[in-house]
This record gives sequence, structure tokens and C-alpha cells, in this order.
Amino acid sequence: LDRYAVFGNPIAHSKSPFIHGQFASLMQQPLTYEAILAPIDGFEANLRAFFQAGGKGANVTVPFKEQAFALCDSLSAEATLAGAVNTLSLLADGTIYGDNTDGLGLVADLVRHLGSLQHKRVLLVGAGGAARGCILPLLKAEVGQLVITNRTQSKAQALVDIFSQVQEGRYSDKLQAVSMPELSGEFDLVINSTSASLAGELPPLPQSIIGNKTACYDMMYGAKPTAFNQWALQQGAAQVIDGLGMLVGQAAKSFVLWRGVEPDTSGVLKLLRDKLQ
Ligand code: ATR
Repeated sequence: LDRYAVFGNPIAHSKSPFIHGQFASLMQQPLTYEAILAPIDGFEANLRAFFQAGGKGANVTVPFKEQAFALCDSLSAEATLAGAVNTLSLLADGTIYGDNTDGLGLVADLVRHLGSLQHKRVLLVGAGGAARGCILPLLKAEVGQLVITNRTQSKAQALVDIFSQVQEGRYSDKLQAVSMPELSGEFDLVINSTSASLAGELPPLPQSIIGNKTACYDMMYGAKPTAFNQWALQQGAAQVIDGLGMLVGQAAKSFVLWRGVEPDTSGVLKLLRDKLQ
């Protein structure tokens, strides 16, 4: 059996072993997938030991995604732009390849719910690691416009600047940072990447961004609608979606990188949703 694992700290509540276990039986892939708690100062040593012991690939979660990025021998464009890696593969020559499937998982889940994102006017709320990893995948999905807004406006501008630098001006006509008070007009899609919902808080967004055709997506999820999605519904949003599908989506993208076959996410998603209740 090929060995895979997710590294994090804490890790006990990770759903990744369940998700990948389900994918493996669905796709009849001979593999094991375990959760590994790495000490805060021992991620790299633990990871290298895992690969030396025959590990083929790994997922990485909080707080090690930046360390994973730093130790890779080669990187995908998504990982380079995210500055973070959530999927590691041991290549045949013994080197480590890093990818970031978080944004691809988000886009896959958005497309599953909404259909094509082409030409949509999209607002991305937040400018932390979660937002950064989604910019290239959203632009590659051919959104019409991507506006980034953040409580601390300078961080949204910094993300746009980094992106423009690395991409040498590509997509610059589509991507911009706008401060929250200056946002105007309705968006087709509003994506909340902030951690505000965890504290039951809301980013201070003007309600005019939500119209009766607006879909809202919160990267957070829970048994009940998140604070952000509740707010969006109160403003008259057409549809709200939470981030459980993004979690399963990023796992499916890791799985296909490692195994060459992409599992359908709907069955696993339903099992996870039922468990949340
Ligand atoms: P992550 O890697 O999960 O994105 P992060 O890098 O700590 O986490 O970023 C957290 C994001 O949530 C930031 O955009 C942060 O806004 P600031 O840059 O202004 O701090 C946002 N955030 C967290 N709590 C918030 C709140 N209560 N209201 C609005 N934004 C919040």
C-alpha cells in the first residue's frame, strides 16, 4: 500500500484521513492516509522521515504551509503565487514537488454550485493566506473582474502588487484592490476568506454589494450557516454556500495529483455534511 499523510498541529480533528480514505475506496486505489501531529519546531524533520520511510505524498495544514513551501525543490505556479503549499509529492528522482490545491478546490466547488465563472464580477473578502491562494485559480477560471477587499486595505493592495509582479502584469486589467467603504455596485459572487465567522464577527462590508442575483461563499463551514452567510441572506443574496465543498475539493485535487484519477466529491461531501449535524 502506498503511504500518504496530512501534517499539522493540531491535527486530531482533521477530516483529511476520512476524505482520502473514502476517495481511495471509491477509486479502488491501494493506499493508506494517516494524520501526523508534527511538533511546532519539527515539521521538516518529521516530513523527511516520512518520505524516507516510504511515504509518497503529503498534505500540509496549519501552521506548516509556509514551511512546506520553503522546503520544496520545485513548485507549481499556484503554490508559487500562494506562497504556501498544501500538497507535497515525492518525485521519482527523490526531490519534493509542492502544489497548492486550495484555490483549485474552491473553484471546483464554485463551478459545481454555480456553473461557469466566466465573466462574473467577483469580490474576494480578506487578504490572508486563504485569499492569496485563490487569486490565480479564480483568474484562470476567467472571471470578468476580481476585486480584493480587506479590513486592513494595505494588505489587499499588497496582494495585488505581489500578484502583478510575479505574473508580470498578466490579468492586471481584471484584478484590483478596493477598500471596503469604497466598494460600489452589486457583485455576482462574494467570497469570504476571512476568519471573522469563527468569532461570529462580520467584515464591515457595505450592503450594496449584495443584490438579488448575488451568490455568497464563505470558506468557513459549520452545522449552522456561518455569520457571514446569515448576513448575506439578510441582505437578500440569491444563494449562500459554505466551505465544506472547498475542503473536499482541495482533497480531490491532491488525490488526482498523486494518483492520476479524480474522485467525484458528492458522496463524501454528503457523508461529511450529515456528520456536521
Ligand atoms: P488565513 O491564512 O486563514 O487567511 P490570516 O492570514 O490570519 O488567515 O488572515 C485573516 C484574514 O481575516 C485577514 O484578511 C483579516 O483581516 P486584517 O488583515 O484586517 O486583519 C481577516 N479578519 C480576521 N478577523 C476579522 C474580523 N473580525 N473582521 C474582518 N476581517 C477579519
